[in-house]
Amino acid sequence: MADVRELNGPVSEGRRRFLIGSALGGAAPILGSVVQARAEDGSLSDPRSPVIVELKVNDGTHRLELDTRMTLLDALREEMGLTGAKKGCDHGQCGACTVLIDGRRELSCLTLAATVQGREVVTIEGLAEADGTLHPMQEAFIDHDAFQCGYCTPGQILSAVSCVREGHAGNAADIREYMSGNICRCAAYPNIVAAITQASQQMGE
Ligand code: FES
Ligand code: FES
Repeated sequence: MADVRELNGPVSEGRRRFLIGSALGGAAPILGSVVQARAEDGSLSDPRSPVIVELKVNDGTHRLELDTRMTLLDALREEMGLTGAKKGCDHGQCGACTVLIDGRRELSCLTLAATVQGREVVTIEGLAEADGTLHPMQEAFIDHDAFQCGYCTPGQILSAVSCVREGHAGNAADIREYMSGNICRCAAYPNIVAAITQASQQMGE
């Protein structure tokens, strides 16, 4: 039988690369080049080694030095000062951190920042027009008083924009179903549904 010290012994470099590749899962195609570069420059053995990434957020490009393990949510809030996306649960269960990535709603707390290089990220700060004109969904949330404390609201609005674009806002039942990933602890749900109904008509989708 193998000695437990052998089982717990140092992980070989090859094995280490395999484990990192497995842990990256769907992020592998994008992070693969990062891992490859770090393997070649010898920094792979230190998982805390930063990488340089360029993130496109709200029509601007941010060149950042990040830990490969940093989530997009933390990068937005801590590195770019974009605090609209909220950290509610940090476990993919509340929707407060929702942003748009290439037009689709995604949970930024479950997304590694380094994996969104080359993709378009939109946060609540970038939803309005450059001249300050609010997006129809923002207007509708105000019109229908669709929030109380407002903590969930940025995530609700971005998720709602995507919900309409997906074609899932045709009736109240669909809206409730396809917005169920966004929790509102103030229970403003009836107003949120009313706001999305209004905005979906204005968005013409
Ligand atoms: Fe991301 Fe709750 S903070 S889902
Ligand atoms: Fe308070 Fe939704 S408005 S959590």
